[in-house]
Amino acid sequence: MHTVIKMILLGGGVNVRNVVGILLDRKTYAGIQRKQTGYEQIDLYNRVAETLGIKLFYMYLQQPKGNTVIGLYVENDTYRLTRLPIPKVIHNRAMSLKPDLHTRLKRLARSSLIFNRQNRYDKLRIHKLLHTKMSLRKHLPVTLAYTRTHLLEAMERFPAFFVKPTNSSIGQGIIKLSKEADDTWRLFWSKSQPRLVSKEKALAYIQEKIGKQSYLIQQAIPLATYENRPYDLRVSVQRGEKGKWQVSGIAGKVAAPGRKVTNLAKGGEARRCEELFAGSGFQPEDMKAEIEKVSLRIAEILGARLPILADVGLDLGVDQTGHIWFIEVNGRDQRYEFKKLKMDETYYRTYETPLVYAKYLLSK
Ligand SMILES: Nc1ncnc2c1ncn2[C@@H]1O[C@H](COP(=O)(O)OP(=O)(O)O)[C@@H](O)[C@H]1O
Ligand SMILES: [Mg+2]
Repeated sequence: MHTVIKMILLGGGVNVRNVVGILLDRKTYAGIQRKQTGYEQIDLYNRVAETLGIKLFYMYLQQPKGNTVIGLYVENDTYRLTRLPIPKVIHNRAMSLKPDLHTRLKRLARSSLIFNRQNRYDKLRIHKLLHTKMSLRKHLPVTLAYTRTHLLEAMERFPAFFVKPTNSSIGQGIIKLSKEADDTWRLFWSKSQPRLVSKEKALAYIQEKIGKQSYLIQQAIPLATYENRPYDLRVSVQRGEKGKWQVSGIAGKVAAPGRKVTNLAKGGEARRCEELFAGSGFQPEDMKAEIEKVSLRIAEILGARLPILADVGLDLGVDQTGHIWFIEVNGRDQRYEFKKLKMDETYYRTYETPLVYAKYLLSK
């Protein structure tokens, strides 16, 4: 075993102290040479690495052999399939929700600093964590664990609220309710036309949709609108130089007509936030500065409480009065709003910043 590694190291002249691992889903990894890597822009990672003078090693979640893993090492614009010692620093872009993948990740983490190692967090847990910070509370919509009692409480307290999975993404499984009159609720689900139902009917409907899944209840933010459609924001917040958090970009997402979720996967449309803000009567530059301030505070708290977090995509809402609300945090931000909007510099920066951070970690 040892000799093999040595041969590769000597033969290939790989300086392992300069190598950053990029950990991808197996399918994404398999698509690198065919250039079919979905939302992962391999060419951008490569360009950034060249500029920063670091070497990349693309990997997937595997059982290491000794202290080595196989992957694609990039050199002079070519990929070399090779076995190398586990890189000291790894930028995690893989999902490891399945138990066996999770075990492999843990094994890798024994000899590597894997940032964003965990990239899916329970929404209720995040809410509770941020809630401990007094200065952030005004940005947090009231959020309760889903129980029948809390559902009844929400119906008393809020004119509108959301019922959401605690551990899902891309707008899946989300229900919105708004009060129409005494004992009449308007219920929004997926693409269906909203229906008017009694309280009892609403309770039964929700229970049926939820089944045994873990859900939460959240006060609805009266989101600012564009052409009568609610919008919110995706904010990329990342650690870069010296590990400092920075806002790499802000993009708007507008819900499809008739929908209550802005996710692009649910027909939402990316829009420049300046345009949205101006349309709502907000001063775009002031609003952006305010969004950045809140985003940095949130990232700093999360970064201090969660293990080596360095790259998050925040969903923030702005209500009709201009108040900023936290909706959720994403640990594997696809950053595709920036791509869609042709915000090339911003898009590049969202790939560059984590690698600047990785380089900093290598030098420590
Ligand atoms: N409390 C809320 N008030 C207003 N809109 C909400 C609220 N919660 C969710 N939404 C809308 O639904 C979208 C999806 O919700 P989110 O919590 O981000 O879940 P997901 O992980 O599925 O993206 C949000 O981007 C927003 O447009
Ligand atoms: Mg979201």
